[in-house]
Amino acid sequence: MGSVKIGIVGLGRLGKRHAQNLRYKVVGSDLTAACSIVPEELAWAEKELGISETYTDYDEMLAKADLDAVFLVTSSSMHSAQSIKALEKGLHVFTEKPMGVNLEECRNVEAVVSRHNKQVFFVGFVRRFDPSYAYAKKLIDDGVIGEPFLVRSQTVDLDEYAEFQVDFVPSSGGIFLDCNVHDIDLARWYLGSEVKTVYSKGGSYVHKAFDEVDDADNTVVLATFEDGKMAVIAASRTAFHGHDTHTEITGSKGILKIGITPAKSRVEILDGHGARQECVKDFYERFQEGFLNEAQEFIDCIIEERRPIVSALDGTKATEVGFAMTDSFKQKKEIVLG
Ligand code: NAI
Repeated sequence: MGSVKIGIVGLGRLGKRHAQNLRYKVVGSDLTAACSIVPEELAWAEKELGISETYTDYDEMLAKADLDAVFLVTSSSMHSAQSIKALEKGLHVFTEKPMGVNLEECRNVEAVVSRHNKQVFFVGFVRRFDPSYAYAKKLIDDGVIGEPFLVRSQTVDLDEYAEFQVDFVPSSGGIFLDCNVHDIDLARWYLGSEVKTVYSKGGSYVHKAFDEVDDADNTVVLATFEDGKMAVIAASRTAFHGHDTHTEITGSKGILKIGITPAKSRVEILDGHGARQECVKDFYERFQEGFLNEAQEFIDCIIEERRPIVSALDGTKATEVGFAMTDSFKQKKEIVLG
């Protein structure tokens, strides 16, 4: 295969970034079509990316465009149905996380993926493709910290409260699914075991509006795994300093810390405020290399007929655990999975 003809679907906050990577940076990618329900976003794709084949209707794009693959960056509640339609059309599929917003959606996708196992299906667990997170996995596999038994991982966003965040809760699945799917995926990946129990706590400490939709602005979860290992997973929407996602893995012979100080660069400023480092502002600034690497890996898997390191099962498991975390928070008790 020469280059991979791609149709991108969704050109919002993240879709535009993926589209720029696929158009200008990813080797072997030929971004030929774009789809969005927002006409201004399609105008942006024509002007900024030179894409003339644009659609406001996904089904029409699938019917008319000459594509090898779709790249789904739509709202979370669209991912499963759009993945299934593209797979059934014989296309390779990249879908942003989460793979589905409930377990039934995820299992439906898994079943279709297993019937179309010659096509590449890729869930966007971007942190696995960040150089530091990937290197930590290699160190664990090489036995550098012995047997890992505890993961502490957090997803913390700068406080940019806007009412739409509250409106977004029903379609995104809430803070546990929206923010912590990555941490769940990492904990499973690093510990090599499945989550057995979760106990969530949290509240709306800064923005009471999240209470009204049964969600929270700060949360913490204690998870135990089938083999007795542990994870502590936290999320926040109210950081003052910036985007502060980091992870620590403790093993029988050592500890790995990934990005504990969310520094924008290696420059330290010593001035009238003291000695300090500037902080990354948002998830894209922190993980831009990961977003590029995962898109490149998707294309390489298609061209080289390889399977990605993220599977549909990983997508299901992250959603299943995210739901259990949400249930635990709402029911105020420990939830035992499966
Ligand atoms: P957004 O709301 O800014 O954009 C959504 C896009 O989907 C818009 O372009 C909209 O036109 C399009 N869309 C919605 N329904 C559609 C339909 N039926 N047909 C065609 N297009 C449709 O959302 P944002 O922030 O860009 O997030 C998109 C997805 O990316 C979400 O699922 C989110 O969970 C995920 N995401 C992943 C991150 C990561 O770290 N991997 C970070 C941020 C978002």
